[in-house]
Amino acid sequence: MSSQYPIGVFDSGYGGLTVLKEIVKKMPRYDYIYLGDNARSPYGNRSYETVYHYTLQCVKWFFDQGCPLVILACNTASAKALRTIQQNDLPGIDPAKRVLGVIRPTAEIIGDLSQTGEAGVLATNGTVASESYPMEIGKFFPDLKIYQEACPMWVPLIENNEHNTTGADFFVQKNLHSILSKGQSIDVLLLACTHYPLLREKIENYLPQGVKLISQGEIVAESLADYLLRHPEIEGKCSKNGRREFFTTDATGDFDNHASIFYGEQISSKHVDL
Ligand code: DGL
Repeated sequence: MSSQYPIGVFDSGYGGLTVLKEIVKKMPRYDYIYLGDNARSPYGNRSYETVYHYTLQCVKWFFDQGCPLVILACNTASAKALRTIQQNDLPGIDPAKRVLGVIRPTAEIIGDLSQTGEAGVLATNGTVASESYPMEIGKFFPDLKIYQEACPMWVPLIENNEHNTTGADFFVQKNLHSILSKGQSIDVLLLACTHYPLLREKIENYLPQGVKLISQGEIVAESLADYLLRHPEIEGKCSKNGRREFFTTDATGDFDNHASIFYGEQISSKHVDL
């Protein structure tokens, strides 16, 4: 039996594929399995209990596949479930396994990107309400002023393939106007939802000069590479045959059609019942 297994990458749906894409670009030799919980997405407006319950179920599925390490490539799951899973569940399930999220790697660097000392976070309702970003960023950059804006229409626009329409322009302008009025010196804006990179071009059209737009894929990939270097005991358990497998809790045909938009390549997924 093999003692090496793929790295697991999880999202509520398709968005985590924007993160996986960057991870694969940075570290192509590892094997990865991706699970999108499309049957129950979006997570963005769900309660803590529900997001925690769903995320834990998916994490256990990855462990059943042998994954030594799971990345929650979903801000909502990272905000609402990660800490409880790390602190309460992992010790009982298997203390040698690891689950990492996307919030901390971003929090560690965002302050270095701002000259004015003001940054904005664009995210789902759930991520904003959790206050996870202000709390995590405060640990590394206590003087950085953080403004948040929930953009609940952005995920449905993207999932319904409406992100290149004038309807999307309306909501992008509305939310940008709102956050930039709250923090008038904001010079860094974080796309704190894995779907949002698909709106990047549109967002850039409406950004004033001097405001940097940050997406998380590259940040998370960089941080994972660093983590694997610092944790040879985990790195040694990760298989390295350049394989990728994709799973969805919903219909595979829909997943494959949408997924290529997020991942930039055709993929062929398998269905999983949880
Ligand atoms: N992937 C989620 C996130 O990054 C957005 C989609 C959802 O609401 O499930 O927050």
